[in-house]
Amino acid sequence: METSEAIVNRRSIRKFKSDPVPDEHVTALIEAARLAPSGCNAQPWRFKIVKDLKTRNKLAEAAYNQSFIAQAPVVIVCCADVSGYIEGSSSGIQDLGKIGAVEDEIVNIICANINETKKMEINEIGPRIAVNVAIAVEHMVLRALDFNLGTCWIRALEEDKVKEIFNWDENIYVVALLPLGFPAEEPVPRTRLKLEDLLL
Ligand SMILES: Cc1cc2nc3c(=O)[nH]c(=O)nc-3n(C[C@H](O)[C@H](O)[C@H](O)COP(=O)(O)O)c2cc1C
Repeated sequence: METSEAIVNRRSIRKFKSDPVPDEHVTALIEAARLAPSGCNAQPWRFKIVKDLKTRNKLAEAAYNQSFIAQAPVVIVCCADVSGYIEGSSSGIQDLGKIGAVEDEIVNIICANINETKKMEINEIGPRIAVNVAIAVEHMVLRALDFNLGTCWIRALEEDKVKEIFNWDENIYVVALLPLGFPAEEPVPRTRLKLEDLLL
């Protein structure tokens, strides 16, 4: 599928068939996430793949009872790993400096920024690095279309409740849930702003 076709045809899917999602498709989605770009190549994304109904129900409950989440045979919990970000960005920026992709002066500035980040409260860092995870999530969303799978970004959630399900500590920041399954609906395109309205 052409990228443009995927971008045009993607819809948020909120009704799913009960047909199981083959494991290799789930792996292909995680692989698409793995290849996403990230600041300093830090790659802070981490994913929990949930298939069992009991946990799916708990996730739906933690997302203000958006019950369709549990209807999807797979829910991918998309997270940022704070310490993984600190380590990944430190080594990543050094690598970018070594290969000459980033000038030494910029490497020094970014290293100083990373040191400042390290001093922050751990629960302040998660939201700041979430943008990296968001890119990886959207890679999965688009890759899903290659297998005729549907997804829906879920950000309306109570983070503490999601973390409680898995006993995660403050090092893990929950960015989104991604229910995944074969669509049982064909939504019409949602409205979008006009091109000229986007330009500042
Ligand atoms: C960051 C983000 C958070 C979202 N959170 C939710 C959500 O919690 N529940 C939901 O039903 N849809 C959610 N959506 C889906 C949006 O409602 C949807 O993308 C938008 O209405 C446009 O429709 P489309 O995706 O079909 O083009 C979210 C989308 C994004 C990008």
